[in-house]
Amino acid sequence: MSASNRTLGLIRRYRDRLPAFDDANIVSIGEGSTPLIHAPRLGDRLGVNLYLKYEGLNPTGSFKDRGMTTALSAAKQDGAQAVICASTGNTSASAAAYAARAGIRCVVVIPGGKVALGKLAQAQIAGASVVQIDGSFDDALRMVRVMSEEHPITLVNNLNPYRLEGQKTAAWEIIDDLGHQPEWMCLPVGNGGNITAYWRGYNESLQRGDISVLPRMLGAQAEGSAAMVRGEDVLQPETIATAIRIGAPVRREEAGAAARDSNGGFAAANDREILDWFGHVVRDEGVFCEPSSAASLAGLANARRDGLVAEGAEVVCVLTGNGLKDPDTAISESAPPITIPAERDALERIVLGTPA
Ligand code: F0G
Repeated sequence: MSASNRTLGLIRRYRDRLPAFDDANIVSIGEGSTPLIHAPRLGDRLGVNLYLKYEGLNPTGSFKDRGMTTALSAAKQDGAQAVICASTGNTSASAAAYAARAGIRCVVVIPGGKVALGKLAQAQIAGASVVQIDGSFDDALRMVRVMSEEHPITLVNNLNPYRLEGQKTAAWEIIDDLGHQPEWMCLPVGNGGNITAYWRGYNESLQRGDISVLPRMLGAQAEGSAAMVRGEDVLQPETIATAIRIGAPVRREEAGAAARDSNGGFAAANDREILDWFGHVVRDEGVFCEPSSAASLAGLANARRDGLVAEGAEVVCVLTGNGLKDPDTAISESAPPITIPAERDALERIVLGTPA
């Protein structure tokens, strides 16, 4: 019996193309091999042939697991005693889980009051030291960089080169599933790590001869933290899409190069637009993602409006995180439950749509 790709995890699935790890050092929870979902109704709404790469189905519910399997395997191989990261939530949830699996201590530093509930719960229950600061993600990142430079503690933010090595595998899966590269590859951008990783993955596939053309890369940002769109840092980033509430993207050079060299671009969307697409994707297609993930759809809609993406284009949008990460936003965007007495007639009035 051969193991499924999910059972293998990413490092074993793509062993021939990733950094080498001894079997004993591979830290995997069965990440990667997420579904590529054709989305015809949502695609009609956008005027494109749309696929969703549903990264919310990774073990901790976000794409971060792709980079944590490689980062924690490398940390284990190097004999690291502890890892540290700054996070808007998903990185901390993933680092906490993979560190637990590796038996390595984990410290996460987060912007106080700005991390979605599910993500906080994940890091706490996994036993990480969760530190909140009165500051932004950008402040937290500055602080953890100093700690990792001055002490023997491994940084697992995407400055760690193993992170992007793992994350680039998503591009290979898309090529495997579609049989070719999409015309446009659209994803939400915070630090710019993931768009850099996808671009690298596609370029390596081109070199291998798996594809003969590269996709155009579209980076979507929230208007209140759109450093790449503006071309300058945002001092006080603000958005409902807390995962991408980042004002100083650490991978700005590479992310900018990916958009430029692919003849792609960046698009911004405001919070209302992000929340509208957060609703559309689950009501049209049944796919529940977190608000930051819906920023890719809102950014795509604006890129269509501005004529950057042509009608009928084949587009893959990455839904980077699971909707269960941020139940508060889902609830505040929905109609409340209807409360009735436990009586037949009361339920029937609702079923038949007759007023009480
Ligand atoms: N989408 C989600 C759900 C994220 O959590 C992140 C980043 C991004 C998109 C943007 O990816 O930074 O590589 O451009 N989250 C980080 C974190 C910052 O701490 O969880 P990027």
